[in-house]
Amino acid sequence: MKHLTATCLGLFLVLSITGALWAEGVLKTGMESADQVVKTRKYLMHTIKINVDDAAKKFEADRIGDIQANGATVALAAKVMPPLYREKHEAAYDGQGKFFKGAEPAAFEGVSEALRSAAQNLRMSAEKNDKAGVIQAMGALQQSCGACHNAYRGSF
Ligand code: HEC
Repeated sequence: MKHLTATCLGLFLVLSITGALWAEGVLKTGMESADQVVKTRKYLMHTIKINVDDAAKKFEADRIGDIQANGATVALAAKVMPPLYREKHEAAYDGQGKFFKGAEPAAFEGVSEALRSAAQNLRMSAEKNDKAGVIQAMGALQQSCGACHNAYRGSF
């Protein structure tokens, strides 16, 4: 029972954090705020995740062509990632979920590019209704998440 209450509380916390995330407005023109940078990182990661989950659902339903938009969205997120990961900004994390451990810029650009190119391949394969290509691109996409997370993502 105690365990269940803790689980529910944890789930509520995650949901309310994600809810607050989706309610955020556009970025300020200046990128000096560490808080803005970290919130944008979270926004991108959650956007990537819902698109990957959505692509998997469409695949199950054999709606291959509809996966195009998911590929394009993930590719866009990957494209804009590197400048947001120049600093660690550890103080801007609230002690929950995941944080950025820091990375050499060129290495981080490399793992972001792996995500971007897998997502572009996903978009192009979906556009051609190429099911085998979609399977391959989804595999590459999953691998790119792991490659970056294993190296640069820490958990509180
Ligand atoms: C180029 C690096 C990189 C790639 C590629 C990447 N991530 Fe992440 N991700 C991170 C880092 C760094 C963090 C932790 C920092 C943060 O959340 O600000 C993170 C955090 C997350 C989180 C947790 C966010 C939170 O609120 O704590 C989710 C979910 C996530 N990633 C999903 C994905 C998925 C799914 C993929 C692949 C389709 C992916 N990421 C690919 C770097 C990456």
